[in-house]
Order: sequence, then C-alpha cells, then structure tokens
Amino acid sequence: MASAGQILSVSYTPVYSVILGKRGRLSQNSICRSRSQRLCTHFRKRNLHTVPVQQHLSPLFSVAPMMDWTDNHYRTLARLISKHAWLYTEMVAAETIVHQTENLDRFLAYTPEQHPIVLQIGGNKLDRLARATELANPYGYDEINLNCGCPSSKVAGHGCFGVSLMLEPKLVAEAMSVIAANCDVPVSVKCRIGVDNHDSYNELCDFISEVSAKSPTKHFIIHSRKALLNGISPADNRKIPPLKYEFYYALLRDFPDLMFTINGGIKSIAEVNAARREGAHGVMVGRAAYNNPWHALGHVDTAVYGAPHRGLTRRKVLEQYQVYGDSVLGKQGNNRPNIRDIVKPTLGLFHSAPGNGLWKRKADEALRRCMTVKSFFEETLDAIPDWVLDETLGEAPSSSVETFANSKTLLPPPYTYTESEQMVLCA
Ligand SMILES: Cc1cc2nc3c(=O)[nH]c(=O)nc-3n(C[C@H](O)[C@H](O)[C@H](O)COP(=O)(O)O)c2cc1C
Repeated sequence: MASAGQILSVSYTPVYSVILGKRGRLSQNSICRSRSQRLCTHFRKRNLHTVPVQQHLSPLFSVAPMMDWTDNHYRTLARLISKHAWLYTEMVAAETIVHQTENLDRFLAYTPEQHPIVLQIGGNKLDRLARATELANPYGYDEINLNCGCPSSKVAGHGCFGVSLMLEPKLVAEAMSVIAANCDVPVSVKCRIGVDNHDSYNELCDFISEVSAKSPTKHFIIHSRKALLNGISPADNRKIPPLKYEFYYALLRDFPDLMFTINGGIKSIAEVNAARREGAHGVMVGRAAYNNPWHALGHVDTAVYGAPHRGLTRRKVLEQYQVYGDSVLGKQGNNRPNIRDIVKPTLGLFHSAPGNGLWKRKADEALRRCMTVKSFFEETLDAIPDWVLDETLGEAPSSSVETFANSKTLLPPPYTYTESEQMVLCA
C-alpha cells in the first residue's frame, strides 16, 4: 500500500501563471514549499513500510473535527493559511474503516502538507476500534482521537457511541487501550463536560480519572458544554447547553499531569490568546475556523506560535488552492470530487469583507457551469476589490477578553473521588 501522502499528493512545485480573468484576479503563482520550512524529520518504522514522520510544534491551536466540513479540501485550504495549526479529520466510524478495506484511501488518505493531522474515529466495539486503528496506522496520522462528544441520535442513540460513551468510562478506558496498542502515535479523547443530568463536575472528573488511569490517554479535548440527548438537533446541542469554561479550568487544577485542550464558542485569535493566558494548554476552534478561515486561522502562526509574518494574502491563498483544486478535480475514481465540493471551503474566505455578498451571488451562478476551479475564480473574483485580495493580515487584534478570567472565579470545588458516584455513572 502506498502512503496516504503518495496517494493524494499534490504537486507543490512552482506553478506558472494563473492570471485569471480580464482583471487578472490572481497573479503569477509562486508556490514552492521549501523542505527547510519543515521542522525536523525523522523516520519511524511502521508495519508495512518506513514512513517519514515530522516533529511538529505542540497543539497550542487546533481546528476541530467537523463532519462534512473538515474534509481534505477544507484542510488543504486551512493549511495554506496556517502552517502550524493542528487539523482534525471529520469523524470516521471504525465500522466504516473495517468494512471498507478495499477502499481505505477514500476515508483515510490525505496530502503530506496536512501534517500535523489527527484522525478522529468513532465507535464502541473494541474489536472494531482495534482493527480500524491498525488499518489507519500506516497512513501516518500524528494522533488518534476517539469521539466521546457527538450527540447526534444517529451516533449517540445507537448503543453508546459518541457522547453516550461518557456514561461508560470503563469501556472508554478499554477502547483507548486497544487504540493505543494498535498505533504508534499518542491517543486522545474529545468529550463534553457531561450528558443530560450527569453534569456535575465530579462526574466529569470520574470520567477523566478512570480513562487516564486505565489507558495511555493523557490528552483530553473538552467541549465545554454538556450534551442533551432529548432529541434536539446536533446544531442546537452546540448552542443551547451553556458553556462552562470553569469546568475546563478546574480540570487543569485537579489533573496537573494531563493535557487539556479547551473547545466551544471560541471565535477569534484574541479569545484564543485570552484562554491561553489563563493557562489553557491548547485551544480548539471549530465553526469560526470554517466560517471565517482568514481571520480565525490567519493569525495563528504569528500570534500563537510566534512565527514570522509570511506576507500572506487571500490572492496568494486562492492561487495555491486553485492549483490543488484543479489537480483533484481531474482525478479518476469513484471518489472524484465535483467543483462544488472543492469550492465550498473557500466560501467563507471573504467573511464580512467588501464584495462578499456579490461574490457569493456570482459563485452560485458560476457553480452551475464552471468546469474548473480556475474558471470559477476567473468568473467570480472581480466582485472582490483588489485591496481586499492583496491585504496582508498585519498584527493580531489585541482586544482584551475577560471571559476566561471570569470563569476562573467560578471554579467548582476540587474533585473528590466517591465510590458511589462512580457506580452510578457505570450503571
Ligand atoms: C458541522 C459540524 C460537524 C461536527 N462534527 C464533529 C465530529 O465529527 N466530531 C466531533 O468530535 N465534533 C464534531 N463537531 C463539534 C466540533 O468539533 C466542536 O466541538 C463544536 O463545534 C464546538 O466548537 P466551536 O464552538 O468552536 O464550533 C462538529 C461541529 C460542526 C459545526
């Protein structure tokens, strides 16, 4: 089997003039990913072959797993904007991986530029999770994450999968142990702070305590609101239950040996840095990174990782993305994407910028007839003023955000382990 990178590898060698449209919306492309930009490369032995593995900066910032959103196309766009953000895949069900062994690339392949990248899997059957991890391992993901936060009735309603797993910490510990035993990268859990009326801080701690004590899991991503399994939609489950960042910060206090990433409702780089100032080990952003990728991701390398400015503009991002898009559009096979799939992640790029409304209207129209990403941009980008296309990001906004400091004044009492609560949770 070829590595994931070989399968979908995009040629990031310099490409030539992509002067689009009569107004030349995109200028001469000069993409050349220098190998020296990569941090440090070493090699790790894997089951099937030797795969180069890069060392990455730590996950101070990550883009959340989002079904139908964080696909290969979105992740390619996100990586063009931030070199260091950790990118999560959409959740892939263990059952799917196990039953699609002839078709694994469709679910698991990605381009090497997407590192650091985390595969999120979903499931509750130990044998399936073990086999799925074993099959995913050669693809060289940087971490494997188990979904313990999805409230969708399709997932949580079907026998303790997604967020229902929070009621089964013993099973999650076993699941994490088999996942870790079948891969050679770190493993992590993404969960909520509770489910229905199992929403006390102590119950959350019982879950974290058991999973971390009985499995190699040392990293938890905490979506800081509980899930309601009363039939409300997944979208409502991402807004109706209130955010309780104080539970997140209490976990930092009570489990000092573990790593915790905060998630939920964080929209701007100012909020990311405010959460980190209060001690967050890592910050995960979901919807804002998809709906407004330029502003949510554009400052990450400089303001979170301290990297120098690259003079990035949206014109340059689109030039590179167009090359990627047209290269995959032409690919054969039953997973061949259409132009809508490829253009979709770019539609938030001019969020609240002048020309955005007109661009969206032109996009609707152009998507009906354009056969290439190049022609799509040629037809539509004259809606966006040149200065917007060529504007660099500048310094990150430094507005003061008090949300997380205020949460720290609301911390629940320290965790106390009680046998009886543990029994109730496991019932
Ligand atoms: C369209 C969509 C799909 C999602 N799919 C997943 C998923 O596959 N796995 C998961 O753990 N969370 C999923 N989530 C939840 C996000 O990962 C994240 O926890 C949530 O959106 C809160 O973060 P935010 O407020 O920054 O968006 C999804 C969210 C959205 C909006």
